[in-house]
Amino acid sequence: MRTIESGRESMKGYPMAFGDDPRNPELHSDQRKGLAAPPVEKPYDKEGARIVALPSPSRAVVAKAHVMDVIGERVSRRIYADQPLSRDQLSFLLWATQAVRAVNADKTSSRRTVPSAGARHPYETHLRLARVEGIEPGLYRYLPLTHELLFLDDRPSLREELFVLTDREEWAADAPVFFLWSCVPYRGEWRYHTMSHKSMLLDAGHIAQNLYLAAEAIGCGVCTLGGYWQEGADRFCGVDGVDEYVVYLAAVGRVKTANTEGV
Ligand SMILES: Cc1cc2nc3c(=O)[nH]c(=O)nc-3n(C[C@H](O)[C@H](O)[C@H](O)COP(=O)(O)O)c2cc1C
Repeated sequence: MRTIESGRESMKGYPMAFGDDPRNPELHSDQRKGLAAPPVEKPYDKEGARIVALPSPSRAVVAKAHVMDVIGERVSRRIYADQPLSRDQLSFLLWATQAVRAVNADKTSSRRTVPSAGARHPYETHLRLARVEGIEPGLYRYLPLTHELLFLDDRPSLREELFVLTDREEWAADAPVFFLWSCVPYRGEWRYHTMSHKSMLLDAGHIAQNLYLAAEAIGCGVCTLGGYWQEGADRFCGVDGVDEYVVYLAAVGRVKTANTEGV
């Protein structure tokens, strides 16, 4: 049962100066115990996988280049042009939010375009693509190690499921691109045990802010959603809700000309 007290506690820092204090073995992480690290990207069955290549991220899509303009003009946008996103634009947004710059030698962590506590990067990116030039509509997962998309499903109910899980938000269900970030909590727990959960939520904010700023730079708009039906979102992505669960959502589309909508 959620309570105000447990919610407040979960926002706080370590309960002691050294979270990994040797005198408190109940707080020892699996990393400290010498267990193998989980993979930096969720494995998938390569045989029969439908992979969609993405163009390399390119600054050619950037229309607003000055960082002061991008930060100063960012707003949440819930009205989008009908026009599809280009594959280059989608590639740019995925690069900005999760692209891998390096994997360490023992393949236990990655460095990406966003920060993450302990470089754990616990999120997977699910995408409902409704209108992207040259990509069949459907549900996909981003593969950050190779900058590709993994096709998951194109069941006809995707739009209706999204409508329901976003509490009947038409603009979200009809957005050309819809992000669902699911957390694989063991990636953080492996290193930080019970102290990992706060950090993993903070990580999601960095990802979403990069999406906001990257979209603003390329003539697109974003509105993130923290209000959604948990079970519906997990089922939508095909994750179990225990070892992986959705934490944050975002709708994306091209900015409608003369759209000055903000809050
Ligand atoms: C964590 C978080 C959760 C949010 N959840 C929703 C949401 O569920 N539905 C929605 O329409 N907007 C949502 N928003 C967008 C906020 O309403 C918006 O950021 C706020 O009104 C300020 O407007 P601005 O982003 O244009 O500055 C969310 C924003 C954040 C940061």
